[in-house]
Amino acid sequence: QNSTTQTLIDLHEQAAKLYHHILVNTQAGKQALNYLQKRGLSADIIDQFNIGFAPAQRLLSPFFKEKDIDYQMLRQSGLFIEDQEGKLRDRFVDRVMFPIKNSQGKIIAFSGRLLSTENTDMPKYLNSPETTIFNKRKVLFNFDIARKSARKEQKMILFEGFMDVIAAYRAGVINGIASMGTSLTEEQINMIERVTSHLDVCYDGDAAGQNAINRAVALIGTQSSRLELGVVAMPVGVDPDEYLQQNGPEKFQQWLKDAVETPVAFTLHFLRQDLNLDNEADQLKYLNSALRVIAKVQSPLEQDVYLNQLVSEFQLNKESLQAQMQQIVRQTA
Ligand code: CTP
Ligand code: MN
Ligand code: MN
Ligand code: MN
Ligand code: MN
Repeated sequence: QNSTTQTLIDLHEQAAKLYHHILVNTQAGKQALNYLQKRGLSADIIDQFNIGFAPAQRLLSPFFKEKDIDYQMLRQSGLFIEDQEGKLRDRFVDRVMFPIKNSQGKIIAFSGRLLSTENTDMPKYLNSPETTIFNKRKVLFNFDIARKSARKEQKMILFEGFMDVIAAYRAGVINGIASMGTSLTEEQINMIERVTSHLDVCYDGDAAGQNAINRAVALIGTQSSRLELGVVAMPVGVDPDEYLQQNGPEKFQQWLKDAVETPVAFTLHFLRQDLNLDNEADQLKYLNSALRVIAKVQSPLEQDVYLNQLVSEFQLNKESLQAQMQQIVRQTA
């Protein structure tokens, strides 16, 4: 590890300490602390994730200037924005600050959340830019903690947002991870499959979340032959954090356990959700798209399970389903 890396990590560790101090000990952090408490985050959790607050007035620029840190280092850190005169101004202003750590647990970036998204066109979350120490394709929130637990449990849960990871942690589920505001990448899949044999994907219960599950499952299917996958669909309209807030930790844990289904079962539910299955045209549409999915299932046993479900639900005979499936395979070959 070279000294530039070490210095940049050091700047992040110092910045996190300062943000955290502002949040928990000062008047400037009062409103943000209130906001986090309302969202159910205790002082312990705020400490555990080292959450902080970047106030409205300049904070890091005067702090580091006084410490006589090399200008090029500050410039490279991503913690500042350079104005026309080459002056560095704090990038994060008036935001709740969530440190982002690498696999070793060292802070390499931040994500800052606005206290309110009303009457503003600024993004809800602002992430650090890519730097020599932060490549967001290779970072998973909470990976340093989750991988320790996965060593024993052989299981991780992939959430959509890091507030969901924090929610899970509050409910005692510490093996949650999340990508940093991007869709899942190959690099992240590699990281995951190196430390666990099972991954549950649990995204938000909205259309965007459902579509993202399909994309994630498809990508993992092509990237990894080792990872065994589960899908946890949230109730319509809520994300895991909201579910915990509304139902408490026991129900939350229960949901994560009981709602797990195979990726195929999830896809079959997904395919039918906007169809009216009392209508024959929609029924055929569903059956054909379902068979397309089932045809790709590798395990003959698993394939049989889904075919039998169609047989009994739609009162069909299995031979015609199999014949139709063969036809689909031939057409798409
Ligand atoms: N995200 C982002 N920029 C945004 C909105 C979202 O980078 N303007 C990323 C964040 O990493 C966030 C994830 O996408 O964690 C999921 O988005 P969303 O579901 O909208 O956020 P939540 O995690 O639900 O955040 P909150 O509960 O604070 O609204
Ligand atoms: Mn503290
Ligand atoms: Mn979402
Ligand atoms: Mn969400
Ligand atoms: Mn949320």
